[in-house]
Amino acid sequence: MTLDTTQQNQQRDHFADQDAIWLFGYGSLIWKAGFDYLERRPASIRGWTRRFWQGSHDHRGTPDSPGRVATLLPEAGATCHGMAYRITPDVLGPLDVREKNGYLREVVTLRFNDGDTAQGLVYIATEHNAAFLGEAPLEAMARQIATAQGPSGPNRDYLLNLDDALNQLGVEDTHIRELAHQLRQVDDTTPETS
Ligand code: BEZ
Repeated sequence: MTLDTTQQNQQRDHFADQDAIWLFGYGSLIWKAGFDYLERRPASIRGWTRRFWQGSHDHRGTPDSPGRVATLLPEAGATCHGMAYRITPDVLGPLDVREKNGYLREVVTLRFNDGDTAQGLVYIATEHNAAFLGEAPLEAMARQIATAQGPSGPNRDYLLNLDDALNQLGVEDTHIRELAHQLRQVDDTTPETS
């Protein structure tokens, strides 16, 4: 699959004149940043909901057997809880490369638990990118996640780590909880091969 959003993101240079930028994480960034940061704080954004609807050909799957990873879908009235990182602008270049399989930088309003707000960035893979998989029955998504793996590791670890991290934050996300539950069910009913 030919897809690389790196160049597009270099042009989305919002906050380029600032010394520090808030970045909202809602997927793997919640439990593993993989970059240096100045500060991290639990935060949320409104009008977006987390879904395992993005295909992963380069991290948690392969082109022949893509995994499923998180993206955000617009939804009126929804709130997505995650982790905000205050970063220096040089962090964004490598992140653009790491998330090049369809994710684009967007500007959002972050809300911290104490009521403070700040403008920041979030990476979102919309339905218009070539790796977007969209909705599927929960069991089908769980079966895909149970078997996919890529250079960053098994797809299942991504989902279960996210579920654990959200639980630790005290965040209730029905989609993630039900998908993780379904994944464990699939595990229990799939015979082991030797
Ligand atoms: C995140 O974990 O928030 C994230 C998801 C997709 C791309 C970049 C970051």
